Amino acid sequence: MRLVHLDGVGYSIGDRDLLRSVRFELRTGDRVALVGRNGSGKTTLIRLLMGELEPHAGRVRYGPGVTLAATRQEPRFDDKTVRQVLQEGFARLEQIEERLGELEAKLDDPNSYEAWEELHAHFQAAGGYTRKSRYRAVLAGLRFDGREDEPAARLSGGEARRLELGRALLAAADGLLLDEPTNHLDFEMRAWLVGFLGEYQGGLLFVSHDRWFMDSLARKVVHLDRGELSVYEGNYSAFRQARTAREEQA
Ligand SMILES: Nc1ncnc2c1ncn2[C@@H]1O[C@H](COP(=O)(O)OP(=O)(O)OP(=O)(O)O)[C@@H](O)[C@H]1O
Ligand SMILES: [Mg+2]
Repeated sequence: MRLVHLDGVGYSIGDRDLLRSVRFELRTGDRVALVGRNGSGKTTLIRLLMGELEPHAGRVRYGPGVTLAATRQEPRFDDKTVRQVLQEGFARLEQIEERLGELEAKLDDPNSYEAWEELHAHFQAAGGYTRKSRYRAVLAGLRFDGREDEPAARLSGGEARRLELGRALLAAADGLLLDEPTNHLDFEMRAWLVGFLGEYQGGLLFVSHDRWFMDSLARKVVHLDRGELSVYEGNYSAFRQARTAREEQA
């Protein structure tokens, strides 16, 4: 399923065109690494996909009912505990579960059955059945074990970034947009994250400077260079090889 689609999107800051009539789509099951030099506009592109910024030209379109999750640059947790932040996405799953229960009560009606089937597929794909085990995995993987009742606002800067990552991972979204998720992770946590994201069924787009991380996860590389996007199938090493070959030809 197509989750989000950039249709001829342009965006500029001052007189500099960060994006020039860009086309791009993120689909269920995609694993895309977004690369480009510092300041090329990667974070801006993610914010456009999230609808946090309005494009100056073109349109950002979403699939029906699609939800996307991203890590915020400066997360605010108000008076929530670590557990409450990590479980923010559960409310939506609980709502769906309730609705499924209502539909189950009248399954002999073909319309209800069809609606149940569709909603159930969505519930399953969003990890509805695995939310408790994923919660425990995130707690251990990002090392918040035993700290579930701590106020999130008291965490250090690095811990807050880690918690924000955990929140996004558990958001039960159809697509995940991660901007440098490994920045505050040691090697062990990075390896854990590769494993966790490897199981993710939705569409994933990430920015990272960690070559090992990119090579482990990416199945497609999207290169943002002077306002244009080029797509390369394969992992980061394949992208480097293709780039080198292209430069030698030119
Ligand atoms: N609010 C702003 N006001 C002015 N310039 C901005 C603003 N936000 C971003 N920029 C500029 O826009 C350009 C693109 O920024 P962006 O953060 O999207 O790049 P990036 O590819 O994510 O960079 P990095 O690799 O350093 O994270 C940069 O040149 C940056 O200085
Ligand atoms: Mg950035």
